[in-house]
Amino acid sequence: MASVLVHQLVKRFGDVHAVHDVGFKVNDGEFVFFLGPSGCGKTTTLRMIAGLLMPTSGRIEIGGRNVTFLRPRHRNVGMVFQQNVLYPHMSVADNLAYPLKVRGFTRAEVREKLGEVAERLRIADVLDRMPDELSGGQSQRVAIGRMLVRQADVFLMDEAISHLDAKLRAHMRTELRHLQKTLGVTTLFVSHDQLEAMSMGDRILVMNDGAIQQFGTPQEVFDRPANRFVASFVGEPHMNILPAEIRYEGARPVARWAGGAMPLPDLPRGLVEGSLVDVGIRPEHVVLAAPGGSDAGHGRVEALEPLGAECLVTVQTGGETLRARLPAVRADRLGFVVGAMVSLQFPRDHIYLFDKAGGQTLLQAGFTEELRLEAA
Ligand SMILES: Nc1ncnc2c1ncn2[C@@H]1O[C@H](COP(=O)(O)OP(=O)(O)OP(=O)(O)O)[C@@H](O)[C@H]1O
Ligand SMILES: [Mg+2]
Repeated sequence: MASVLVHQLVKRFGDVHAVHDVGFKVNDGEFVFFLGPSGCGKTTTLRMIAGLLMPTSGRIEIGGRNVTFLRPRHRNVGMVFQQNVLYPHMSVADNLAYPLKVRGFTRAEVREKLGEVAERLRIADVLDRMPDELSGGQSQRVAIGRMLVRQADVFLMDEAISHLDAKLRAHMRTELRHLQKTLGVTTLFVSHDQLEAMSMGDRILVMNDGAIQQFGTPQEVFDRPANRFVASFVGEPHMNILPAEIRYEGARPVARWAGGAMPLPDLPRGLVEGSLVDVGIRPEHVVLAAPGGSDAGHGRVEALEPLGAECLVTVQTGGETLRARLPAVRADRLGFVVGAMVSLQFPRDHIYLFDKAGGQTLLQAGFTEELRLEAA
């Protein structure tokens, strides 16, 4: 077990600035996810921690020891990548046992360790096979098993379960989470799958363009995104973002956009009448109704996507497209069809405001709810 500290880490490949000035600390035994779009620098950061890539500048410590210039095998890290190579001339069981045998474990100890891991990773039935007799998903799980059985200080995994089928991936999410907690080994896991990150991670490090956007628990990142990027990257379907202008209507501040106006709970400092902002609202909080009444705006239904329990409704409003997510029963009852006019409401408690230029969060949703909770 060991903490991982990364300080002012930079990696350039010629003109490509893959990682700029990244710094964070992962605590002992923590399970941290690197989440971000393709090309944002996740793999590059992980490979520098593994020792497979030299940083342009910066420092990396594992368990308080400066490992920046150490070879991978002197860092005592276990790794699994998207493409893994098993020893082709050894059976699956021997592939799994090899890291233990070289460390002097007895045959009985090896058998015991292997048994549990093979059971949990659902590879117990292929232990006697050779690597070329495995499916892609099976060899991936053997590679994960080979990493898990050895006593590394840190586990590094890059898109380790992305290629598995949906059901197996769900199973692996649960098992990896369980194994990581049982073994207590500090784990850094790269993914662009936010469901993996949200369900497995103790904390999520959100990256974009080679820089850290936010480092927090899954709930923090979801509820209190630091900026527009995090807000629209985390959450599926993603948060609706509407360009708007701050106005006063009567004594009340509203954010007015081409399709209507939404009331604001409060006006964050620095915003005045005429300020340009981006308004964020998650699809699950957009309220749709038949036209009429005191609406925040109206629009036209452009598409309906039934998803079993829920229905996604795409609405065109004032030149913007937004999505609402509602229970299928409710969508049915409303009788929406493509082309129908609908009214839109945006509950005040669920609105976010972002700075137009820099994207920082100016107003967090849940604001008034929290005040109410504190008062209760
Ligand atoms: N060896 C290299 N030479 C030049 N550029 C590279 C090299 N390796 C990575 N890059 C660039 O560095 C940036 C970050 O790449 P990286 O592989 O870290 O992204 P990633 O976040 O892992 O993306 P993905 O989700 O697609 O795996 C990209 O722009 C990539 O093209
Ligand atoms: Mg990658």
